Amino acid sequence: MKIALNGVSARHPAAKPDAPDAIRDLSVEIANGEQVAIIGASGSGKTTLLHVLACALKPTRGSLQLNGADPWSQSTSDLQRTRGKLFLAPQVPPLPPRQRVVTAVLAGRLPNQSLIASLRSLFYPSGIGLAEAALARFDLAEKLFERVDRLSGGERQRVGLARSLVSDASLFLVDEPLSALDPTRSTQAISSLTNGAKERGATLVCTLHQVDTALASFPRIIGLREGLLAFDLPATRVTDELLRSLYANKLDELTGAAPAHEDLAQTPLPAVMHCR
Ligand SMILES: Nc1ncnc2c1ncn2[C@@H]1O[C@H](COP(=O)(O)OP(=O)(O)OP(=O)(O)O)[C@@H](O)[C@H]1O
Ligand SMILES: [Mg+2]
Repeated sequence: MKIALNGVSARHPAAKPDAPDAIRDLSVEIANGEQVAIIGASGSGKTTLLHVLACALKPTRGSLQLNGADPWSQSTSDLQRTRGKLFLAPQVPPLPPRQRVVTAVLAGRLPNQSLIASLRSLFYPSGIGLAEAALARFDLAEKLFERVDRLSGGERQRVGLARSLVSDASLFLVDEPLSALDPTRSTQAISSLTNGAKERGATLVCTLHQVDTALASFPRIIGLREGLLAFDLPATRVTDELLRSLYANKLDELTGAAPAHEDLAQTPLPAVMHCR
């Protein structure tokens, strides 16, 4: 899927009226099949940008075009159809606790299934081999029939990523996929994700706190600073100096671990995010 943002500003629906927009005046074009990492300090607007791309958040200014059409000027049914082509993987995947892993993974296919097929799949999952293959790419095949609430945080995060690989979305929007993973798992997860998107010809936009991983795994890097576009460059041209200026007063985030997000599971998400 091809993306064009033209002068886009956006804010969280719960933001205070006097707060500035979380992203401001962003103009970016991303070609079909491109892989882009978004980096920037905590609060710089990375998740807000992903939500705009997922059509979960309407821009307050400017326009978004997906494959040449503005989703917000489409009819409700066309907007739903457009959302069906997007896969938004939130940092904490919304997995029902008592669900089996196989059902949770196959939920990635729901947006393009009929209601009857979706309901049937809750009781008689079809495509078990597909789910197993997706889980195997994240070294989780043996958890196929485990209950979701018996998984560790990192395993749940990987189940959320495996879900993306069974969907037939043409745009993957992935929010901090590595925050609960150790370095070995991180390397494996990011290459499964980038290879999976490449095999499908899907566009991949991924926010990352791990700058080294972003530079090593993505050909193009977008840096956000306080909601503004700081740079948009091939990874090979992102210098230490640019990174230091991007993280300015938050240099600990550049060198240390990603900030904790314990409260995220409690944060209500836009309705569209619950569909996957
Ligand atoms: N739940 C919320 N309620 C009100 N304002 C919010 C909320 N979430 C985000 N914001 C506002 O939007 C700004 C950008 O937040 P966003 O989540 O997009 O940043 P981020 O770059 O993803 O940060 P992080 O790296 O911590 O995930 C925040 O600084 C805050 O002002
Ligand atoms: Mg975020």
